[in-house]
Amino acid sequence: MALYIPEDVIETVRNASDILEIVSEGVQLKKSGQHFMGLCPFHSEKTPSFSVNPSRGIFHCFGCGVGGNVFSFIMKRDGISFPESVRTLAVKYGISIPEKEMSPSARREESEREALYAVNKEAMGYFKSVLFKSDQGKIARDYLKERGMTAAIAEEFNLGYVPDGWDHLSRYLSGRKIPRPLAEKSGLIVSKNGERFYDRFRNRIIFPICDMSQRVIGFGGRVLDQSLPKYLNSPETPVYNKSRSLYGLSRTRQALRETETVHIVEGYFDLLALYMHGIKNVVATLGTALTREHVRMLSRCGVTKFVLVFDSDDAGVHAAARSIPVFQKEYVNADILVLPSPHDPDSYIRTFGPEHFRSESEKALGIVPFLADSAIRKHGLSIEGRLAVINDMKPVLGMVEDSVARSLYIRDLAHKIGVDEKAVLEKVQEHIPETQGPVQDEPRAGRPQVHVQVSRFGDMERQIVAMMLQYPQMIEECRNHGVVEYFEDPCFKSIGRMIMEYRGDMNTMASILTTRALDEETRRTISALAIGDIPYLYKNCVNLLHQYITSRKKMDNSLSQRIRLAEERNDQELLIRLIHEKNMLSKTMKNNGLSQKKILNSGIGGGKSI
Ligand code: GTP
Ligand code: MN
Repeated sequence: MALYIPEDVIETVRNASDILEIVSEGVQLKKSGQHFMGLCPFHSEKTPSFSVNPSRGIFHCFGCGVGGNVFSFIMKRDGISFPESVRTLAVKYGISIPEKEMSPSARREESEREALYAVNKEAMGYFKSVLFKSDQGKIARDYLKERGMTAAIAEEFNLGYVPDGWDHLSRYLSGRKIPRPLAEKSGLIVSKNGERFYDRFRNRIIFPICDMSQRVIGFGGRVLDQSLPKYLNSPETPVYNKSRSLYGLSRTRQALRETETVHIVEGYFDLLALYMHGIKNVVATLGTALTREHVRMLSRCGVTKFVLVFDSDDAGVHAAARSIPVFQKEYVNADILVLPSPHDPDSYIRTFGPEHFRSESEKALGIVPFLADSAIRKHGLSIEGRLAVINDMKPVLGMVEDSVARSLYIRDLAHKIGVDEKAVLEKVQEHIPETQGPVQDEPRAGRPQVHVQVSRFGDMERQIVAMMLQYPQMIEECRNHGVVEYFEDPCFKSIGRMIMEYRGDMNTMASILTTRALDEETRRTISALAIGDIPYLYKNCVNLLHQYITSRKKMDNSLSQRIRLAEERNDQELLIRLIHEKNMLSKTMKNNGLSQKKILNSGIGGGKSI
C-alpha cells in the first residue's frame, strides 16, 4: 500500500544520512578545501568536476549540472522515486518510518501504480506455475530445453508459459478478485469495444520485464512455433515505459558495476544465453532503438564501456549510425561487435562458448572505425570505391561533435584508404555544423541546467542568492531590506523566497531547499550556488546589497523619466505599461520601508569579516 512519509521523519533521515558516505559507495572522493571532489557518476569525464560539500549536505557537478542533496543523489543513482530514496536511507540508518495517509489524488496515482505492479506480479506467478508445475507446461519446458535453457535460468528470470485459449489469465485474475479495468490497464487483458475480454498472451513462453527494483512492469511472449508475430510485448502502461526499460538489468546490474562494461543485445534469448554462459554483464533492448535514457541508466550503474552486439553487418551499420548521437549526448563511447553470420548472440555462445565471445568483445571497434571498415568492405578500394567510402563517412564524421576526436577519425580514415588527410577533411567539412565546439564540457542539450540569469539584474541577484546560501548570517539583512522582493529573475526570486520562509537549522538549509524545489532547474541552481565558496567578506556582502538596491533605485528614476517621455509623445500603450512597472516597484519599496539612508545606517556597514 502506498503511504506518505511525514516531513519530520524525512528530516530525521536526512540528518542521519552522511552524504559523504553515500557518495563514496560509488565515487572515489578526494578532499579539496571544504569540499570533496571526484569523477561524476552521472556523466563520463576524465578530470573531476563532481563536488560534495558534507557540511551543507549537498553535491553538484560542474560538468553536467546535476546536483542536490543525499536523496536526489540516491534517486539519480538508483533510478528510484523520492519516497523510495527516503526509505532506502531509513533502512540503512535504522530509522523506522511511521506512515500516514497521503492526498487522495496522489494516493490514487500511487496506488494505481502499486496495483499494477501487484497485478503483474500475480500474472507472473500464474505464468510461472503453469510453466513449471502443470502438464500443459510440458510443451514449453521441452521448448526451452531444446533451446538450451536450464531450469535454473528459467527460475532465476521467472519465465512462464500460458497455454492456448482466450481466457486462462483472465479467469485466473478474476479468481484473485482483480478488477477487470485494472487488468485491462495492465495490458494483460484486451477488450473489443469495452466488452469481449480476452488474454493478450496466448500459447506463449512468457518473459517478465522488471525495473531496477525488481518490480514486474511488463511482459514479452514468444510463440513456440513459426506462427506470427513471433514476439508480443505489453503495451506501455503507467508502470511500463519502453524507452526506460532494459530487459535483464534488474538481475545484471551487479555484474555491470563490477566490470564497468555492458553488452547490449536485442533479444530475450540472447540475454539469457549469454547470462547462462557466464557473460552476466548484458542487457537487452527488445528490438527497440537504444535511447539516451537507456544509456543514462547504464552509466548510473557504473558502466563505462558499451558494446553493442549485432547479428549482421547490415543491422550493425544501421544501428551504429543511429546511435552515434545517443552516445555522444551522454558523453560515452560505444563499440560495435558483429558476430559472424549466421549467428546471433544466443547461437554464437552456444556454438563457440564464452571465451570466444569475450575475445571478440575485446576486439570490438568503436562506432566510427567500425563504420569506416564496413564502408571499405562494401565499396572496396578502387578509385570509385574510395570516393564512395568518403561519401558514406561524411555524415558520420559530421555527427562527431568533439573536434579533436573528429580530426583523429579523419586521419584514421585517410590512412585506411590511402588518401591525403586534407582531401578527406575538405570533403567532410561541408557536413560539420559551424557552431560545434569541443563536446567535453558543454551543457547537455534538452536537459534542465543550472539557471542562467535572464534579467538585467540577474547577475547581482545570483550573487545575493549565493551569499544567503553560503553565509546564512546575511539572510537577516536581506530580510530587513526585502531585497528578494525586488528580484526580477523568476528563478532567483523563487529561491530567495524559499530562503526567506526557511526557519530551520541553517547548516542544513541548502540541503533541505533542494528537496523543496519544485523543478530540476531550481534544484540544480541551489546546489550550484550553495556548493561554491564565494570569498566574501562581510563588507563585500554589504556592498553587494547596497549596489543592488542602488541600481534598482536608479531604475526607478529612469522609469520616471521614461514615463515623462511617453507622456510627451502621447504613447498611451507604453505609458500604461511603464506606470504599471513603476507601481510594482514602488509598492515593494514602500512595503520594505527601504531607502538608501536606511541601508547605510542599518549597522551593516562595519568591516567585520565572516
Ligand atoms: P529467437 O528466434 O527466439 O531466437 O528470437 P531472436 O531474439 O533471435 O529474434 P530476432 O532477432 O528476430 O528479434 C530480436 C528481438 O526483437 C526479440 O527478442 C524481440 O524482443 C524483438 N522482436 C522480434 N520479433 C518481434 C515481433 O514480431 N514483435 C515484437 N514486438 N518484437 C519482436
Ligand atoms: Mn535468436
